[in-house]
Amino acid sequence: MTEQTPTIETGILPGTPTTSGEQQAVEEQLIRNVLHSFDNCQDPRLKQIMQSLTRHIHSFIRDVRLTEAEWNAAIEFLTAVGHITDDKRQEFILLSDVFGASMQTIAVNNEKIADATEATVFGPFFVEDAPLIENGGDIAGAAPGQPCWVEGSVKDTNGNPLPGARIEVWEADEDGFYDVQYTDQRVSGRAHLFADADGNYRFWGLTPTPYPIPHDGPVGQMLEAVGRSPMRASHLHFMVSAPHMRTLVTHIFVRGDELLKYDTVFGVKESLVKDFEQQPPGTPTPDGRDLGDRSWARTRFDIVLASTST
Ligand code: BEZ
Ligand code: FE
Repeated sequence: MTEQTPTIETGILPGTPTTSGEQQAVEEQLIRNVLHSFDNCQDPRLKQIMQSLTRHIHSFIRDVRLTEAEWNAAIEFLTAVGHITDDKRQEFILLSDVFGASMQTIAVNNEKIADATEATVFGPFFVEDAPLIENGGDIAGAAPGQPCWVEGSVKDTNGNPLPGARIEVWEADEDGFYDVQYTDQRVSGRAHLFADADGNYRFWGLTPTPYPIPHDGPVGQMLEAVGRSPMRASHLHFMVSAPHMRTLVTHIFVRGDELLKYDTVFGVKESLVKDFEQQPPGTPTPDGRDLGDRSWARTRFDIVLASTST
């Protein structure tokens, strides 16, 4: 039996053995009482979740021998997380993200299927009804940054193209801000488009740059207190859907970015790290667009969707 395995007898995760037998008995009796309080739950899944949560909460408290001052600090922290959360700011998701809980939930629910593209964290900056662009159009709008040509294919796991697949893309500008973080209602750095008859897509975006997660709230304070950076590795978000296919939420990252190892929400997967090839000023563009004396970049992201029946 490993240290974290509940005993069959009590369903209690072992506590720290530094306490007396009498003290341990008190602590374990409390856990048993709480576990039994869910006995009449009619929904078996809800019962399983609540009893497992109970075991893990009590195990944590006993493991660190949580003081009452620390318990109070935790309540104050969670209260602050609640107070700053509204329909635009979701500090609880941010909290889940920086604990890796969002990525662990994604991992548990997206077991690798053949060569299907891997998923990663959704993030808080997706917006419904982003503008439609033609294949080859520009998602940047007025957002500042280096133009970046992005192209690729959308296929199923048997290699069949998925014409008409819907591709949502969104990204921060070179100052590290999404359009929704400005106060002027601008829409930039986001769009949707559809794969063409051959299942291919292409668009102009911006070369991704690193930026911090919103860190002016309790989660930012927590990161600072523990000496962690709020920075995310440079990335470009995708959400790709097609009939009978699992919707893919992912991003691509920039090979060579120093933050790949330190992404504060643990979102980086090696398969999602892509070459963004720098093109000096004057290099002809794939669609003949005249960029004057500006440099630009290009990348390729071939997307593979898993079927909903796998
Ligand atoms: C983002 O990708 O923008 C993001 C993801 C998780 C938390 C905060 C921001
Ligand atoms: Fe992002």
